[in-house]
Amino acid sequence: MNAPATGLTGPAEPAAGPRDVVLRARDIRVEYDGERPTRAVRGVSFELRRGEVLGIAGESGCGKSTLAYALTRMLKAPARMTGGSLTFRTREGEELDLLSLDDEELRTFRWTRLSMVFQSAMNALNPVTTIGRQFGDIFRAHRPDMGKDERLSRTRALLEMVGIDAGRTSSYPHELSGGMRQRVVIAMALALEPEVVIMDEPTTALDVVVQREILDEVERLREELGFSVIFITHDLGLLLEISDRLAVMYAGEIIEYAPAEELATRAAHPYTQGLLRSFPDLTGVRRELRGIPGSPPDLRAEPPGCAFADRCEHAFDPCRSSAPRLLDLGRPGGPWTAACHLNDPGHRSAAGAPTTEGRQS
Ligand SMILES: Nc1ncnc2c1ncn2[C@@H]1O[C@H](COP(=O)(O)OP(=O)(O)O)[C@@H](O)[C@H]1O
Ligand SMILES: [Mg+2]
Repeated sequence: MNAPATGLTGPAEPAAGPRDVVLRARDIRVEYDGERPTRAVRGVSFELRRGEVLGIAGESGCGKSTLAYALTRMLKAPARMTGGSLTFRTREGEELDLLSLDDEELRTFRWTRLSMVFQSAMNALNPVTTIGRQFGDIFRAHRPDMGKDERLSRTRALLEMVGIDAGRTSSYPHELSGGMRQRVVIAMALALEPEVVIMDEPTTALDVVVQREILDEVERLREELGFSVIFITHDLGLLLEISDRLAVMYAGEIIEYAPAEELATRAAHPYTQGLLRSFPDLTGVRRELRGIPGSPPDLRAEPPGCAFADRCEHAFDPCRSSAPRLLDLGRPGGPWTAACHLNDPGHRSAAGAPTTEGRQS
């Protein structure tokens, strides 16, 4: 890869093996306090490998943003983490227990190890301060040994890296288009060479062409700099294209976790199959948008069975009485897990129900 003269370096070590885990989430649980608490994240576990793009998909309201805030320890009342653990393994090999970091450690961690880009991020730039000054503030706070000239040259390099003219350091945010502001926010997120970048609907507010340009840019930078990405969006089609692996969320849980490439044709969970039927295919041919009838359940309720049962065309007896566990399907290229009784050999044989495999159209 021909790295342009960005002044940035890649990971300190050569890229580790693909199975090297950088972030491990175990049984994360988040509630919004209230008369009847909303259980927005209900026991989410996953591993993010170094250098990979993990996509998180799911309809609006299924807990994706709440999970992102939990991962970055940015939850604010009435949200409360009620369980789980978060471990980060740095490129130097140090294991960090994220739940035990104090405020000062968190501030440093958030810029230098893991950074975030949110949907509203392009409106989060300070309107009365130039772009250059905002980068300068980041460097002054986290790289106090950096001189003025170096701060400026790094800022110019970062802007060019995301396709913005270096002369824009003296611009104010309102002088830039929405797409340019979002690029600036991405450059800021990369300023201190984090190992993980979490992007929550980073391009949803932008038009399709600009969205595509920015995604290509992120992909190029990822290859060049070697960071991992957690990319969150309701747009499953987009995620299939850009992710290495994909987690599909429904009602606060991951209900399927699979290699992205294979998921498009072999989804095991009826909800994933429904989502796949709900968007135009990758060739741009608009198929019938059948969607999924009904709407997601009230997250204040505690249904005894599968949260998707009421909307599922395959639901059978066990689905209404017992919650399916996330089971490894033992497929090649895995782990490939799904939480559906149809994929559980015990229930399947009891009900005489066939597997969901090969059912999607
Ligand atoms: N500040 C809040 N107070 C109470 N409930 C909230 C709050 N923010 C989000 N929720 C609820 O948490 C659930 C998950 O929301 P969210 O994480 O934003 O989902 P997504 O990002 O997938 O659209 C939703 O049911 C939502 O209504
Ligand atoms: Mg969201």
